[in-house]
Amino acid sequence: MKVLGIDVGGSGIKGAVVDTKTGELVTERHRIPTPQPAMPSAVAATIKELVEHFDWKGLVGCGFPAAITHGFARTAANIDKSFINTNINDLFSKTIGLEVYCVNDADAAGEAEVCLGEGKGVDGTVILVTIGTGLGTSIFVNGQLVPNTELGHIYLDNGREAELYASDAVRERENLKRKEWAPRFNHYLTTMEALFWPDLFILGGGASKKLDRFADALTVKTPVVAATMLNEAGIVGAAIYAQTEQKRLKELKPLD
Ligand code: BGC
Repeated sequence: MKVLGIDVGGSGIKGAVVDTKTGELVTERHRIPTPQPAMPSAVAATIKELVEHFDWKGLVGCGFPAAITHGFARTAANIDKSFINTNINDLFSKTIGLEVYCVNDADAAGEAEVCLGEGKGVDGTVILVTIGTGLGTSIFVNGQLVPNTELGHIYLDNGREAELYASDAVRERENLKRKEWAPRFNHYLTTMEALFWPDLFILGGGASKKLDRFADALTVKTPVVAATMLNEAGIVGAAIYAQTEQKRLKELKPLD
């Protein structure tokens, strides 16, 4: 099945049509800068632009940087606070006139990697960390997602909130060389290792492309790999999620 996958990020909104069976992008990826301020109506208008770019008429999956329950955004760390308690499934569906299902962006990336990438068939606990404007996390236990883990917001033993200390945006903002930033990320990963004892860490987001440049600084015993789909995992996973969610909702039996 072909689904338009969209990844809403703090700096860019990206999309491509995805073959959900293979995870391949069947079109070029298209990126539009995230409107600033990233208000709900402005983000919805940008998503509409993307849909028009692809002249898309089918199902849409959208990875979004917030905890999302039943279509409602519940947090807003790197987007406008007015998103909190907005039903973004409804807002985006109405704006573009197509069926849209939204999922946390890191959960989307994790879904793609567990279905088709590095996490496929892994026994035990897999943690995916996306390194971008924020730090996003998704956790899978024997292939089953525990949704909306917001573990980029944990506090480290130096009193710093992980995302405000070790994200890629912080590296850029503080002008840190990758060598200076890497110990910060290692601090985060060792903390996560001690708390969850995972079997595998998968790194996604823009910075995952550069893993070879900071792998030496990582001291965790857990294997660490870059997402097979690198920062396209979010787009692919959003598409897979939409297909699964649409099917799940169709099969839900109405209450008596
Ligand atoms: C948000 C998460 C998101 C992550 C990556 C965090 O600030 O709270 O929901 O997954 O950024 O975008």
